[in-house]
Amino acid sequence: MITIVGAGRVGTAAAAYIALKELDDILLIDIIPNKAAGEALDLAHAASILGLSIDIRGTENYEEMAGSDLVVVTAGVPRKPGMTREELVGVNAKIVVDVAEKIKKYTPDAIVLMTTNPLDPMLYLMYKKLGFPRERVIGFSGVLDSGRLRYYAAKKLGISPADINPVVIGQHGRSMFPVPRLTTIYGKPLTELLSKEEIEEVVKETIAAGATITKLRGYSSNYAPGAGLSLMVEAIKKDLKRIFLASVYLMGEYGYSDITASVPVLLGKSGVEKIYELPLNEEEKQLFAKSIEAIKANIAGIPKELL
Ligand code: APR
Repeated sequence: MITIVGAGRVGTAAAAYIALKELDDILLIDIIPNKAAGEALDLAHAASILGLSIDIRGTENYEEMAGSDLVVVTAGVPRKPGMTREELVGVNAKIVVDVAEKIKKYTPDAIVLMTTNPLDPMLYLMYKKLGFPRERVIGFSGVLDSGRLRYYAAKKLGISPADINPVVIGQHGRSMFPVPRLTTIYGKPLTELLSKEEIEEVVKETIAAGATITKLRGYSSNYAPGAGLSLMVEAIKKDLKRIFLASVYLMGEYGYSDITASVPVLLGKSGVEKIYELPLNEEEKQLFAKSIEAIKANIAGIPKELL
């Protein structure tokens, strides 16, 4: 059973995509009484209409998650127009601590996929609170940021996004690091296919993508995170050994320790089964370092009494 904590916009979108893939039964949990049950019932009807063989339930009782092998955490406050993800640290840190206690109690062997923003510091906090091996505490965001890079690059190139292998590493926020030289189309780097100005535009659009959506429609994105989460859940559930960009707790990789950041990882049934170090050149190493500095500052913003 897959548990999704937080039956809001991201949680329910993730549930819909996971249901379409029939990956496993789904339990939605939300702190607001009846909310998860209502959302789950609507999704269960959709599954019935589509003839999907899965069960979808919702509850406010965390005990019901016992036995779940995968917990997707989408509980937390999303940003409003004009807000940065970093501004959510204080309020969401408390929610993460609360959810971590429940996960430890009811699903001590589960793999945990974090979505709550600001992602990297919230993943750091979750990792510290859970005390699980880092392989089982994974941050969602790299799939989203790289998916967005792929979208904007594809538009410029006039090709399908599917044929672009996009790379975005570091922070999920304004200091994320899209890497055009390592973003390739059958071995050809983006830097050889687009002009400097075009690449700058693509990078800017990628970094601003979440804020753009929030500004346009008044609330933050959910379909793209839901779609990305379903891919990661699928890779874990089916032991696909797929390589995704995801935030993990670094222990010396890229020369960094005691920090969470997005890097390429291999996902399989044990969670993160391998972390890859990209061949960054000197300039890219410096840009990555800047992104890491931003995450460090975000982590420093977590209220001390919660860590
Ligand atoms: N336990 C369970 N659910 C909780 C808890 C908690 N302790 N605290 C809050 N929630 C629930 C809220 O009741 C709400 O239904 O989390 C849900 C969040 O849903 P939305 O407000 O729709 O937010 P959403 O857009 O889904 O974003 C959730 O993911 O991408 C990030 O920045 C985003 O941090 C935000 C999170």
